[in-house]
Amino acid sequence: MAEGMIAGIVRSGQMPLNQIYATNRQNQHRLIELTKQYGIQTATMDSFPFEAMDILILAMKPKDAEKALESLKRHIQPNQLILSVLAGVKSEYIENMLHENQPVVRVMPNTSSTIGASATALSAGRYVTNEELAVSQALLSEMGEVYTIQEEQMDIFTGIAGSGPAYFYFLMERIEEAGEEAGLTKEMSRQIGTQTLLGAAKMLQETAENPSVLREKITSPNGTTAAGLLALDDFGGGEAIKQAVKHAANRSKEISEQQKQKVSI
Ligand SMILES: NC(=O)c1ccc[n+]([C@@H]2O[C@H](COP(=O)([O-])OP(=O)(O)OC[C@H]3O[C@@H](n4cnc5c(N)ncnc54)[C@H](OP(=O)(O)O)[C@@H]3O)[C@@H](O)[C@H]2O)c1
Repeated sequence: MAEGMIAGIVRSGQMPLNQIYATNRQNQHRLIELTKQYGIQTATMDSFPFEAMDILILAMKPKDAEKALESLKRHIQPNQLILSVLAGVKSEYIENMLHENQPVVRVMPNTSSTIGASATALSAGRYVTNEELAVSQALLSEMGEVYTIQEEQMDIFTGIAGSGPAYFYFLMERIEEAGEEAGLTKEMSRQIGTQTLLGAAKMLQETAENPSVLREKITSPNGTTAAGLLALDDFGGGEAIKQAVKHAANRSKEISEQQKQKVSI
């Protein structure tokens, strides 16, 4: 995810490359790769210039958050703005693990940030000033669209947008299979499917029409689309999509609960 964010920021050209720094836990080879590919600065944890940073973005796995925050605390100043992309990890948990009054913004981007097309949510922790919120919004808008939401809405946003690209990739894999089984090449099926997905997304965006209206417009009685939609219904397609969003959101909530227990211990 961190690479997707770096790619989006670098692609936008809004920030000088000598002001973007990355580090990780141990994988030096990965840091060299990032410098080569994006022209950003990288450093090992030991030599990372923490004190020079205005904003620090946390992008480790939620399960690694506790250890990471414990070791980061001594490097981070109480006035440094923290952006966290950790799914399910509450801003309160990070505030408690760092310093009193630490400004923490919780962020949920998706990997489409790589091409500046992320749907990113942001929610401000209790110590974030309006200015810090505006800075965060400006930075994240370099990676795509930004939605400022309440922290309680983060789980459902994660279910829709954080995990969302995977649902559409999964859909495309099934479309490719169907195309191949009917004699198209995989590449041809992918191109046709991708253009169809892109066209439908643009129709939703540019016409601002209700999806059910757009669907009804192309569904004539007893026609091909009606047959396809009937099969989707018969095979539980609609419910499956809804459940995917709900399960991802529930998992995000579950991770929050686990972190909360750790703090109260
Ligand atoms: N993938 C998505 O689509 C997506 C979308 C939204 C949000 N997120 C969130 O993004 C986060 C990262 O997910 P990912 O799939 O990108 O994980 P990942 O590929 O495993 O990357 C995790 C990174 O964190 C580093 N790291 C771990 N512990 C560290 C520590 N103590 N100090 C410094 N760096 C540390 C790792 O470094 P080493 O390799 O050196 O160990 C690695 O570079 C997760 O919290 C996830 O919830 C992901």
